[in-house]
Amino acid sequence: MTRILIIDDEPGIRRALASILEDENYQVFTAEDALIGIEILEKERINLIFLDVLLPNLGGMEALERIRKERPGIEVVVISGHANVDMAVRAVKLGAFDFLEKPLSLDKVLTVCRNALTIQKLREENLGLKKNTLKKDEIIGKSPAIENVRELIRQAAASDARILITGENGTGKELAARAIHRLSDRAAGPFVEVNCAAIPDTLIESELFGHEKGAFTDAGSRRRGRFEMAAGGTIFLDEIGDMSLSAQAKVLRVIQEGKLERVGGEKTIDIDVRIVAATNKDLEEECKQGRFRQDLFFRLNVIPIKLPPLREREEDIPLLLLHFLKEMNASHIKLDDGAIGFLMSRSWPGNVREVKNLAERIVVMYSGDRIEAGVLQNLVQKKPGFNENFPSSGDPEDVKIQEFGTILNLGYTEAKNSFEKAYLEFQLARNGGIISRTAEAIGIYPSNLHAKVKKYNIRIGR
Ligand SMILES: Nc1ncnc2c1ncn2[C@@H]1O[C@H](COP(=O)(O)OP(=O)(O)OP(=O)(O)O)[C@@H](O)[C@H]1O
Ligand SMILES: [Mg+2]
Repeated sequence: MTRILIIDDEPGIRRALASILEDENYQVFTAEDALIGIEILEKERINLIFLDVLLPNLGGMEALERIRKERPGIEVVVISGHANVDMAVRAVKLGAFDFLEKPLSLDKVLTVCRNALTIQKLREENLGLKKNTLKKDEIIGKSPAIENVRELIRQAAASDARILITGENGTGKELAARAIHRLSDRAAGPFVEVNCAAIPDTLIESELFGHEKGAFTDAGSRRRGRFEMAAGGTIFLDEIGDMSLSAQAKVLRVIQEGKLERVGGEKTIDIDVRIVAATNKDLEEECKQGRFRQDLFFRLNVIPIKLPPLREREEDIPLLLLHFLKEMNASHIKLDDGAIGFLMSRSWPGNVREVKNLAERIVVMYSGDRIEAGVLQNLVQKKPGFNENFPSSGDPEDVKIQEFGTILNLGYTEAKNSFEKAYLEFQLARNGGIISRTAEAIGIYPSNLHAKVKKYNIRIGR
């Protein structure tokens, strides 16, 4: 039930307003001065206040200021018989939702009431969502290695310094980047992610810096780049190790100059972004090999954060598994000592992502609520959907079905390609390595199959 408080020293106004609101099924409280009103706020969960300006004891404006500060969730509508623009402006500046003039109009009262309550509901929902995402992005782990990372993130977030996050696949680099943004002064600004490996070299400049209309053949209209979109926030340059040398040169220039020009544009635009980059490559080694610009590496690597692989924080593995199970609404599942031992002694090349995959598999395939080592062993070894249903070709060397288990840990494109390659190898082996026969059997054009055989470098024949 929605609760409304009326603070006004005129009994007539209190009565009239209360009856209007009660007719709409709101629960109404009244107070003849602000101090009594504030007392009511301590006891009742009020949603909305109608507050008179000229009041004995504590003036309406002071009361407004105090209520907004102490109870920012409550909307306040200021009412006054001595309305003037200055006062209305002041009230709104102090956080009033709206300002109504006496004599009050029934329509206006009800409209403002509805609007204020709608806004309040949206704000609450928004807060709830934010809290949830905060929780979702929590960095789990109790090991000294991960504690250390968390501390580094806390310290680094406070400054505007560039950060380079490194670590093997699935160690939580993106999670760390988001945490840095969230803990920084820029948290209210945007977090813009760029997967440098996924953008073709020809498009990267326009993607990052934007372009003016007609800058190149496909540039239909003007477009802001990711750096501009991230203004006031953080840009996350993911997989930076996969960026081409020419793109690196462009990024370096923008960092050095603190400004950019859109492709095909004249105007220089100041950039106001915090740069966080990540890679699973060893950038120092890449520099030595001439694949990464040393000057850019130095610029990005102001604060290095290395995410430890799971083998350096074994005690976190069971915690992570339980965390993911909880996230998947399976918090009833418990691990016994054997299961914990199994988790900690196993190697996890896919790191945290692999643990998450295991949690998914448990939720889908296991119906009990106590997990022993044997169960995990089964689930880990089982490569769901693949080797069970595939008839053996009799030549396991040719048909590398064994590899399928690991594709579950790859990125989408890589997984798709690995699957396609292994599938075609299998079908070719099954059809004696004959392209036309295989193509017919699986329903694609021989030319298409031929192209794929070339693309994946598949060896035909034994
Ligand atoms: N310490 C952690 N606590 C909770 N969840 C984690 C943790 N580390 C990673 N994750 C989760 O594991 C998954 C993989 O993490 P993330 O994508 O951040 O890794 P990454 O290092 O960017 O991987 P890649 O190198 O493959 O891009 C995500 O779902 C992430 O939320
Ligand atoms: Mg990543």
